[in-house]
Amino acid sequence: EVGLARGAGWRRIIVEKPFGTDLESAHKLNDQLHSIFDEDEIYRIDHFLGKETVQNLMVFRFANTLFEPIWNRHFIDHVQISALETVDVGSRAGYYDESGILRDMFQNHIMQLLTLTAMEAPVAFEAGPLRDEKVKVLRALDMVKPEEVGDRTVRAQYQGYLDAEGVAEDSKTPTFAAIQLGIRNWRWHGVPFYLRSGKALHKKLTEIVVQFKETPLQYFQQNSGLMPTPNRLGICIQPDEGFHLRISSKQPGAGFKTVPTDLTFHFDDKFGKSALPEAYERLLLDAMQGDPSLFARSDEIEWSWRVVDKIIEGWSGDAAPGMATYEKGSWGPAEANELLNKTGRNWQYGCIHED
Ligand code: BG6
Repeated sequence: EVGLARGAGWRRIIVEKPFGTDLESAHKLNDQLHSIFDEDEIYRIDHFLGKETVQNLMVFRFANTLFEPIWNRHFIDHVQISALETVDVGSRAGYYDESGILRDMFQNHIMQLLTLTAMEAPVAFEAGPLRDEKVKVLRALDMVKPEEVGDRTVRAQYQGYLDAEGVAEDSKTPTFAAIQLGIRNWRWHGVPFYLRSGKALHKKLTEIVVQFKETPLQYFQQNSGLMPTPNRLGICIQPDEGFHLRISSKQPGAGFKTVPTDLTFHFDDKFGKSALPEAYERLLLDAMQGDPSLFARSDEIEWSWRVVDKIIEGWSGDAAPGMATYEKGSWGPAEANELLNKTGRNWQYGCIHED
């Protein structure tokens, strides 16, 4: 109204999440913004993209020759993405009860981690090509159909959530979810992506675990008599920023017993404790300098809402899973384990020793 969006020189607008509450509201918000600003003037923040370790995922994949040839369905059994938090909804209950874990964490942060893990190499490392590749992943996601929602999703509330101030006493808002998605393209066909996030859990931990397949023949055993564990890459987003690559080594001594060993890299060890900037520092600087690479484009936001909306729609249908519960300070509901156990898999901790 006062004309700040017009005239000589550049202008940019930064929009914080949540960007809408579903596809329809996000689309409307995009339309409103586009009626005043061009797309390249709009910076939709997702602070996960400001994290060094999330950016490192792109460097890890595209500055090393070693991983790209095996980054596909021929070598990878499945991928897990976890964003676990110890905090409960606390003083944000009013907002949170309207939002829930899917809108608060999956539509944005978890989808960003998924697209960066799964995307093809962009034709240039620039905002346009980079975001094109991310959108292609979202478009290829195998949506959870309403009739599949009981098999592929888990929703849960921590015990005591309903007593929190600001939460409706019969609230059906989940504070934890675990979802199984697939990607319908040549690279990933048949590789499950297990995603989970929740509040009031045992540890603050955000990590991506890439579980590789077993060797075709197994000659050795571990000391415990178990078979050697397949290779596993833990991409540690926080708090232990870095990565852990698990390989099998020989246990010293007679015979050929194996022992799982981690090759590790930690940002702290290499660059010192205070080397990592705050996510927002990087993002605000990029916005001021006019680089939208680490911001979400309108189509990216909308495709991501399509995936989340479908699950939320399924949760109000006949095949919806019940609302599981979990103790505060636990690793989440037993149902989340069952989601993996039914195919002989487990949630893995690639960056910590589980306790
Ligand atoms: C925010 C969510 O976007 O991300 C919060 O609204 C969540 O609910 C937070 O706690 C997590 O961010 P981080 O950087 O602490 O993992």
